[in-house]
Amino acid sequence: MFETDRLRLRAVREADFENLMVLFNHDRVEKMLTSGFVVPLGVKAEKELREMCSSRLLYVIIETKDNHEFVGFISLWDAQMKNRDARLGMALLPSFWGRGYATEVLRFIIDYAFRQLALHRVSLHVFGNNTAAIKVYNKVGFVQEGVQRKANWIDGKWQDVIWMAVLDEDWEASKQEGPNPKTVS
Ligand SMILES: CC(C)(COP(=O)(O)OP(=O)(O)OC[C@H]1O[C@@H](n2cnc3c(N)ncnc32)[C@H](O)[C@@H]1OP(=O)(O)O)[C@@H](O)C(=O)NCCC(=O)NCCS
Repeated sequence: MFETDRLRLRAVREADFENLMVLFNHDRVEKMLTSGFVVPLGVKAEKELREMCSSRLLYVIIETKDNHEFVGFISLWDAQMKNRDARLGMALLPSFWGRGYATEVLRFIIDYAFRQLALHRVSLHVFGNNTAAIKVYNKVGFVQEGVQRKANWIDGKWQDVIWMAVLDEDWEASKQEGPNPKTVS
């Protein structure tokens, strides 16, 4: 189990799947996570989610430290051993947006990815209209590496898909500018 200032990151439990399905079914969340059709997700999606949780390099629930409220998840997946690269995904319930939680969790997980998992890169893609996510990824050191133009159809418009990554060396350099994240409890 990991802790940041306000949050706890812990392994998935059976009781979390109900909350995870609520999160994935929220239309403001689902449309930012999938390049597939945004449709209500049921039993089949839950089965796939269970397989995903057990097969990923890291899949943790984010909860508040104070009262154990379910906030969301963060995950590292598609790890390539030779190139030491893994993909990052995360989502929070909309009621927790705008409190700096994503920034807090990302700072911890990036540090953990480089210092404990020995990764060299953490990569992700984000839709061009996802202003909050792009802002937070930039803030914690992700750099834009490429753009797939008009690659995703959302809300009646084409959106670019933006590829971003942070390198271990970028992260080390950025740590000179601020305090280290809290360590594992
Ligand atoms: C992306 C997400 C994880 C961000 O979580 P969060 O806890 O709200 O993020 P933070 O509060 O740490 O930071 C968000 C930043 O974006 C800013 N922001 C939010 N909405 C914005 C908007 N529409 N335009 C510009 N900036 C915006 C906030 O002001 C904040 O910046 P600041 O710290 O400089 O004030 C959350 O919105 C989410 O779960 N979205 C749905 C799923 C998703 O998009 N996942 C990522 C897929 S790549």
